[in-house]
Amino acid sequence: MGEPIKIAVVGSGYVGLVAAVCFAEIGHSVICVDNDEHKVAALQGGDTLIHENHLPDLLERYRNTRVRFMTDLGEATRECQAIFVAVGTPQSETGDADLSYVEAVASEIARSINGYKVIIEKSTVPVYTNEWIRRVIERNGVHRDAFDVVSNPEFLREGTAVEDFLHPDRIVVGADSERASDLLSMIYSPLTKGEYYRRPDAIEGCCSELKPPPLLLTSTKSAEIIKHASNAFLALKISFINAVSNLCEAADANVEQVAQGIGLDSRIGPKFLRPGIGYGGSCFPKDVAAFRSVAEQMGVDFSLLGEVEKINSNQKKRFLSKVRSALWTLRGKRLAVLGLAFKGDTDDIRESPAIDLVEMLLAEGCTVVAYDPAAMKRAQSELPPSGQMIYVTGIEEAAKDADALLILTDWREFARIDLRQLHAIMRYPIIIDGRNLYDPQDMVNNDFTYLSIGRPAATPSREPAVLAV
Ligand code: UDX
Repeated sequence: MGEPIKIAVVGSGYVGLVAAVCFAEIGHSVICVDNDEHKVAALQGGDTLIHENHLPDLLERYRNTRVRFMTDLGEATRECQAIFVAVGTPQSETGDADLSYVEAVASEIARSINGYKVIIEKSTVPVYTNEWIRRVIERNGVHRDAFDVVSNPEFLREGTAVEDFLHPDRIVVGADSERASDLLSMIYSPLTKGEYYRRPDAIEGCCSELKPPPLLLTSTKSAEIIKHASNAFLALKISFINAVSNLCEAADANVEQVAQGIGLDSRIGPKFLRPGIGYGGSCFPKDVAAFRSVAEQMGVDFSLLGEVEKINSNQKKRFLSKVRSALWTLRGKRLAVLGLAFKGDTDDIRESPAIDLVEMLLAEGCTVVAYDPAAMKRAQSELPPSGQMIYVTGIEEAAKDADALLILTDWREFARIDLRQLHAIMRYPIIIDGRNLYDPQDMVNNDFTYLSIGRPAATPSREPAVLAV
């Protein structure tokens, strides 16, 4: 498969680690650098550190052979021609992305440059970051011709990151020199030429030899904006359907039918129209805020993004009101909570709306009995176990004697609960579903009061309709 290229990936978080093993999977030789010695030692020893499909297998296959882990960025820079920067860009107090890690990496790379290098931003960064990286490297005495800075944003989702990397909708390469774009085209050629998909052991996904992913070449600045604009647009789509779901609730309509109706328009498309308790995770909240801040700094009115954020945060408050409307008062109520991760298939709780909601419920004096298939360990650092915050190891244990059951994360197993058995163990058969995992009619048939998002409340006939509070 193509010509193997020596690649350094700086940062072993979700993006860096997945990129490192996937570059190895398509034939390259990779050094993954992290300044956290413990992380490096764990990765060398075979611990994947994050919950991600396919990652353990790929790591096992390439660990300490085609993917090496180290802390020495200087050595990695000297050995490799392409250096992908995938370090964190956390949100600062003003909403901007904090680029201090990116800057530190750029200066360190500059000190070790020993021939032509291409430095590639993979972290999500605001437009103009490539110019700053270039300036920092030049300030450290490196000649302009000795390097290029490229933007190659990553669109992977947690939970399906490996598949997203190997079967992308598109590969965006923002480069202002042919030399640099040629190197990136070579790195991705096993995917863009379809060779990877011919392999019998290739990880399956939507691309194939006949339908390989396109590589879009743009300017560096355009690529930087593509990443922010993509995430902001997806967040906007979610806030839009959440606002529509509120309207459906007021009008006694069904948002699932409305989402299907608008999603069938090929110009709109059906994806990212699932209403819920709002988006979370390490990307959308941070990237919407950073994009808004970039626009502001450049004198562009993008207040639309402020509305996207407002709808998102209101969605959690509306859910809390829904819980109240089902239970009347909250103090002293025992609530089963299913889901703490910001979405299903991940152990990530960063900006998780589920965690925010549990905090609100605890502040109201409820006892929360929580279960999540993967995120409980991480959740315990945010919400320490106590008499009021109880962690259990299964759905039934959570539901036992509960005054109501709340579904906050869309894990598949939460959509397959045995409703008869659940009914028998709960104190009151009330389910408040923040992810619309069930058909309301099924719930009524099983004698549950069921409140969901953007759909009429479903109550068994002997129960009075849900009251306003
Ligand atoms: C996102 C982008 O999808 C990805 O392209 C980018 O690289 C990183 O950010 P991720 O954060 O892993 O990926 O999660 P995603 O699956 O996009 O979901 C984000 C949030 O939106 C979750 O909280 C999810 O529950 C919520 N969501 C998603 C909805 O509420 N409704 C939807 O229809 C889709």
